[in-house]
Amino acid sequence: MGTSLLKQPLITSLRGSRELPDLLINPEVIKIGEAHKKTSAQVLLRWIIQRGISTIPKSTNPERLKQNLNIFDFKLSDEEMKTLASLNAGIRVCDFAFFKGMEKHPEFPFKNMHCQ
Ligand SMILES: NC(=O)c1ccc[n+]([C@@H]2O[C@H](COP(=O)([O-])OP(=O)(O)OC[C@H]3O[C@@H](n4cnc5c(N)ncnc54)[C@H](OP(=O)(O)O)[C@@H]3O)[C@@H](O)[C@H]2O)c1
Repeated sequence: MGTSLLKQPLITSLRGSRELPDLLINPEVIKIGEAHKKTSAQVLLRWIIQRGISTIPKSTNPERLKQNLNIFDFKLSDEEMKTLASLNAGIRVCDFAFFKGMEKHPEFPFKNMHCQ
């Protein structure tokens, strides 16, 4: 599974373009990174794997490829994990809206998300 966390804030979906918050420049994420001497990308990837979720960050840049692998030598504290969780804006990047009418299915799981 991909992360969709590291992408540029402008995501082009089948239903057009939309602005998303850029977590790489979020002050809270930067602050946590400074505390661990890690980049925002490393903090965000660590946040994913520390919750037991697999992530496949994609990069065409050799330095960033190395950086993305170098996330197993630090641990986010419980407080830092809570801070990162509090950044949840209820936005789902991939809401499957390209399947027309899917949101009307009784088991559509993203009813409370800001799917645009
Ligand atoms: N997201 C999905 O739903 C999904 C579904 C199926 C398959 N996949 C696959 O999963 C992989 C990941 O895709 P994704 O969509 O989730 O994208 P992603 O890995 O979250 O983001 C990739 C983008 O982030 C940049 N990036 C990577 N490392 C960075 C770093 N350390 N600092 C700053 N920017 C960084 C890359 O630019 P540079 O190349 O310039 O570094 C690239 O523009 C891809 O192979 C994709 O085909 C994703």
